[in-house]
Amino acid sequence: MDNRHDLALILKSKIPIVVVESHEEQRVLTLLIEIAESLGKPLFKWSVTEGLRFARYDIDGEAQHAEPKDVLEHIKAESQPGIYVLLDYHHFLAEPVHTRLLKDIAIKHSSVERCIVLLSHELEIPGELRHYTAEFGLGLPTPEELKSMVVDTANEWAAGKNNQRVKADRQATKLLVKNLSGLTHGDAQRLVRKAIFNDGAISHTDLPGVMKAKYDLLDRDNTLTFEYETSRFAEVGGLNALKEWLTNRRDIFMGKSSNPQLDTPKGILLLGVQGCGKSLAARAVAGAFGAPLLRLDMGAIFNKFYGQSERNVREALKSADTMAPCILWIDEIEKGIAGQEDDGPARRILATLLTWMAEKKSAVFIVATANEISLLPPELVRKGRFDEIFFVDLPDRETRALILKIHLGNRALDADKFDLDMLAKASDGFSGAELEQAVVSALYRAHARDEALNTALVLKEVEDTQPLSVVMAEQVNALRSWASGRTVPAH
Ligand SMILES: Nc1ncnc2c1ncn2[C@@H]1O[C@H](COP(=O)(O)OP(=O)(O)OP(=O)(O)O)[C@@H](O)[C@H]1O
Ligand SMILES: [Mg+2]
Repeated sequence: MDNRHDLALILKSKIPIVVVESHEEQRVLTLLIEIAESLGKPLFKWSVTEGLRFARYDIDGEAQHAEPKDVLEHIKAESQPGIYVLLDYHHFLAEPVHTRLLKDIAIKHSSVERCIVLLSHELEIPGELRHYTAEFGLGLPTPEELKSMVVDTANEWAAGKNNQRVKADRQATKLLVKNLSGLTHGDAQRLVRKAIFNDGAISHTDLPGVMKAKYDLLDRDNTLTFEYETSRFAEVGGLNALKEWLTNRRDIFMGKSSNPQLDTPKGILLLGVQGCGKSLAARAVAGAFGAPLLRLDMGAIFNKFYGQSERNVREALKSADTMAPCILWIDEIEKGIAGQEDDGPARRILATLLTWMAEKKSAVFIVATANEISLLPPELVRKGRFDEIFFVDLPDRETRALILKIHLGNRALDADKFDLDMLAKASDGFSGAELEQAVVSALYRAHARDEALNTALVLKEVEDTQPLSVVMAEQVNALRSWASGRTVPAH
């Protein structure tokens, strides 16, 4: 969208009152000055502190017609055409005299072309004036504008440093520009300045801060949370098929390579046994893709916003679109959409989600997790909704050894000093979470005894644990048989 063109069109179309809602006062004023010049019309600006003056020149002097009523009377009496920008006049619009004066001016517009521009961050136009107004909104910067903003800011930094060059990583710069989309000009400019001026470089380390700041700027409630903590694939034991699948799609999704034959990946559903790493894998997707991770908490939406949950989901999805490219993690998806009634909020949430998934054009990769198949509506698991449904089963023996190794390593213990083979064999039926727990409990025992952790202590914990897969064997088996044929193994 071309702001100047659109605003000029409104000003030329003989509309008496133009309403501009914007936080970017200076930018709108600059635009107006350029347009007024090209139209050959005088431009005045008014504020309650500085009164009425020419917009083009900043001349100090006594405020003229600073009173809100005064300025309108002055404009009404004026016999020459002109454009009058009233800054923050929203405070005074409720006053009947002011409304009437504005209407008087508007009605006489056909004989004397005095155009009023109301410029505030927020404007509520009284009903009797609506007929005479047109609205203008500043469009968000285009990718080209953002690119030149980055270049200009880099040049500005360089000029201040004796033309030392900004060290710009090409890939990171591209991502930076991408990440700034959806922000206003002013906000984007602030973030670019911060990224460049902190160290004279644009690198991947700038990106998480930019994304977090952007997330904070977006108007949203807390149904969507920004997750700082992502993981690396290396922290996830097993799930090799899933890892390979994701690795094959990473570059296409992030726009690092393109191929017209390949659709942008939409997302996956991870279904599986409790504690086997679904949530961990979701974090790892964000880490592996190098994209921000946003989490949509279905359970919370449902409980907290009963009645307006659908709107909240829609808002959250809109924010996710603005944050693209990003990973949208919908943990325990069945919790929010498993409603029994036909027309209950659960159904409507599901419909909202499905529509968004079907129509979505943005680079938002969904990672949904679930462990209750009986609660999953068939529409959601139908072929084509997700790119793939992965089944996260209990780890096999080899994977168990790997998971133990990861968790020993996470606690700065040397895994080579443990008999992982033996522990893996003894922990048949254990989930990743239970293996981790065995290490944690054994560490406590070691601490209590003032000993170093060893294989025997971990083994003792393993032997003392009744894994969930045994306690809930029936459910796990039902899950497995449902999954076979319908899903792809993640391991
Ligand atoms: N494959 C694995 N590799 C490494 N650690 C694992 C693995 N699976 C589980 N864990 C450990 O167990 C913890 C819990 O796992 P996670 O929360 O990812 O399981 P989940 O499948 O989401 O379970 P739930 O269905 O209960 O939500 C993880 O934070 C991690 O420390
Ligand atoms: Mg989980």
